[in-house]
Amino acid sequence: MKIGVLASGRGSNLQAIIDACESGKISAEVKVVISDHKEAYALKRAEMHKIPHYFVDIKKFKSKAHYEEEVLRLLKKHGVQLVCLAGYMRLVGEVLLKAYPMSIMNIHPSLLPAFPGLNAQKQAIEYGVKVSGCTVHFVDEGMDTGPIILQSAVQVFENDTEETLAKRILEQEHVIYPKAIELFSKGKLKIEGRRVKILE
Ligand code: GRF
Repeated sequence: MKIGVLASGRGSNLQAIIDACESGKISAEVKVVISDHKEAYALKRAEMHKIPHYFVDIKKFKSKAHYEEEVLRLLKKHGVQLVCLAGYMRLVGEVLLKAYPMSIMNIHPSLLPAFPGLNAQKQAIEYGVKVSGCTVHFVDEGMDTGPIILQSAVQVFENDTEETLAKRILEQEHVIYPKAIELFSKGKLKIEGRRVKILE
């Protein structure tokens, strides 16, 4: 299965996906990496693995729709079947959602629906929860609201900082994101309304 990854930053989830593909753990291939940040380390990672990669500068487009048309053109050019957001710091708009219905995934560093949006780990610490974690979900028009595919929980300790909690959660992100991709590639995800059933 051909994957396209959209990433705005360091790209550790991208790396986990690339590693899972290259080691044969999952039957997929990252065909293209696209970033809205020129300096994103994710682009360097793509380069190191000889994966086509592009910086698409939103400032050069008349509107978000025009920007997404360009992203879509690149995804199509590389035959992408599944789009994975990996630290992509933008809300996905209509152009991409229409082109890839229930075929865009995101990873979020909390147990959704708790703590959507930015700084989820900080929100968790400040709220005082004892358990947090991460969620892979399909993307819809909302902010971190789409149907949930997989979640993994981690404990929150009393001496945790935003950084120590983020690190513990990130380890789990790198486990469940490739797993969710594998399930999708094998046709094992059945979406029924808000619920995603995992077929045997
Ligand atoms: C991760 O915590 C992910 O859950 C969130 O953004 C962060 C991206 O990290 N959406 P990385 O760029 O994959 O290292």
